[in-house]
Amino acid sequence: MTDALDHAAEPRHRRAADPGVPPRPTDVLGAPGIPPAGLTRLAVLGRSLLARLHRGSAPPPSRILEAALGGLQPAVLAALCHLDIPDRITGPVPLAELADALDVDTDRLERLLRFAHVHGWVRLDRRGQVRPTRCTAFLRRDHPGGWRAWAVFAAGSEVTAALGELPAALATTGDAFRTANQQPFFAWMAAHPSAHARFDAAMAAGARMHGLLLAHRLDWSARRRVCDIGGGDGTLLATLTAHHRHLEGVVLELPEVVARMPDRARVAGMVGDAFDTVPHGFDTYLLVNVVHDWDDRQARRLLGRVAEAARASGATAPPVQVVVVESRARRRPVEDIALSADTLMLALTPGGRERTVDELAALGRAAGLRCRRWFALPSGDVAVVFATAVDQTASRPGSSERR
Ligand SMILES: C[S@@+](CC[C@H](N)C(=O)[O-])C[C@H]1O[C@@H](n2cnc3c(N)ncnc32)[C@H](O)[C@@H]1O
Repeated sequence: MTDALDHAAEPRHRRAADPGVPPRPTDVLGAPGIPPAGLTRLAVLGRSLLARLHRGSAPPPSRILEAALGGLQPAVLAALCHLDIPDRITGPVPLAELADALDVDTDRLERLLRFAHVHGWVRLDRRGQVRPTRCTAFLRRDHPGGWRAWAVFAAGSEVTAALGELPAALATTGDAFRTANQQPFFAWMAAHPSAHARFDAAMAAGARMHGLLLAHRLDWSARRRVCDIGGGDGTLLATLTAHHRHLEGVVLELPEVVARMPDRARVAGMVGDAFDTVPHGFDTYLLVNVVHDWDDRQARRLLGRVAEAARASGATAPPVQVVVVESRARRRPVEDIALSADTLMLALTPGGRERTVDELAALGRAAGLRCRRWFALPSGDVAVVFATAVDQTASRPGSSERR
């Protein structure tokens, strides 16, 4: 047996590392450092252009077939993960040996891996050896970025069923997830703990990235107490407090999420419904990928609760800030994560959506928050920083951006 396979004989089924030490950009972003947001945007635009040229070079029947079969990608990616193939190939492994270890048919495994090879998830060399690629490492269970969880969550039957009901989402009060799964997303998750834990793990991968980016992009020196509303399993706060050890944080979450939350120094879970009450006594409130789960009416209500809590926290120096991080919607569609995220929200939520900066600022204003500034993140997201609106007419958020 090759060393690489031998090493994997006991698959390393540890949780993706919990950031007692801060995660590195290379693990979380796949880049050696944190790139400027403008640079990553240029890269996204360049790739989008190449993809359009690539697609445009094919006649319509090929384009339709390619799109119709596009659903194979998440299925094959998830199959690799479920078989622990990325964990098992830490070096070149003969195909037959891998098939033996997995107790599967060699020829059938090769067919799966040929598809994976074309997409760069593994490499099949001419000598019939399976080799890891850069991407393979990110799909391992113990990779500190935790991105494997997205491959598993996105291929889950509840998600694919909701995507299959997408037309139902187009009615004004439509809910494709509910049509497919009989309950709205979070109620269904509460009733399906293992699927919910898979969702939490996928969220944690993004939270690790956002924690790292916010740790670098905001000045935390005069901040002390942070409340992460809908903060999932607390990974974002764990990342933030690992970078800024003077900070302590509280995650406001649904009961089943708090129950699963790992114990961490300086990060506590608090059970609560953010639509009812948000605790006061914090100098920073975070809402990361939370507002986009809700329609405008609900989003205003949620931000209204946050504004009340921020006001009740009293006059602090510096003043209380509310930071909303979301995928940044654009007027003209570009093939980027924000566009996919918006379509996913269409399928999974009853009215959730990605929004432009202006739309986020307007929601905040209607809820009693004043947009102080915003900045793009290299992940393609935007962070909008609000203060409580002493005079709600005092500030009109920049009108530089329209949907
Ligand atoms: C899309 S996830 C985002 C998680 C996390 N902020 C992140 O970026 O990874 C939305 C989160 O909101 C939580 N949530 C949903 N309804 C909530 C409510 N009424 N009160 C508090 N949290 C809620 C969910 O449990 C979930 O963890």
